[in-house]
Amino acid sequence: MKVIAFNGSPHNYGVIQKALSLMASALEKEGIETGIVQAGEDIRGCIDCRKCKELGKCVFDDDLVNRAAEMTAGADGIIIGSPVYYGGIAGNFKCFLDRLFFSGLRLDFKPASALVSCRRSGGINVFHQLNNYFNLAGAVITPSIYWGVVHGNSPEELAEDKEGIFIAENAARNMAWLIKALALGKKEIPLPAATARPRTNFIR
Ligand SMILES: Cc1cc2nc3c(=O)[nH]c(=O)nc-3n(C[C@H](O)[C@H](O)[C@H](O)COP(=O)(O)O)c2cc1C
Repeated sequence: MKVIAFNGSPHNYGVIQKALSLMASALEKEGIETGIVQAGEDIRGCIDCRKCKELGKCVFDDDLVNRAAEMTAGADGIIIGSPVYYGGIAGNFKCFLDRLFFSGLRLDFKPASALVSCRRSGGINVFHQLNNYFNLAGAVITPSIYWGVVHGNSPEELAEDKEGIFIAENAARNMAWLIKALALGKKEIPLPAATARPRTNFIR
């Protein structure tokens, strides 16, 4: 059993990396292998060319996005972590997520967890923004005891946010349980059958 975690910070030595590594340790204690992938570096945004609808993957094949889709398909759970930039998802990571999900990534009944870091505020907005991707992709959003936001401008400051760390590690433990429970449950209870979706655009 495996979880893939995407670090949406532009660097791999900051708060999100540290918080994800704590989540990875908590998952590994529960027997779930966890890989952290750097996904916040220079990544171009979605250009709405709709080629992905023909190709089944993003037309830009020269960066992480299509490989990330393959990694996620092979994983039992997914974590996405972003720092807050001006009250929103960090820019490069937003580009990554838009292309990853718009090009068709499905997470049906796969446990998913969002993690945000900030110095002071904007965390809850970004937590909801990250969960928007999971909601549309059919993921099972992992519960914790509070919104997944940790505080700090550095890993040293993060270490002082004991409650934030607890919330993140608790989400990881819950994800491990969900992965195991879903694997057992799927043996007994088939997933709901997919039904045709009506699609309506509201044009006035
Ligand atoms: C461009 C930029 C914008 C930021 N905007 C916010 C903000 O709106 N609110 C906040 O609390 N922190 C803000 N921060 C601070 C980061 O969110 C914070 O240091 C975060 O924990 C960094 O995570 P990282 O070390 O993994 O990159 C901003 C930092 C940068 C570089």
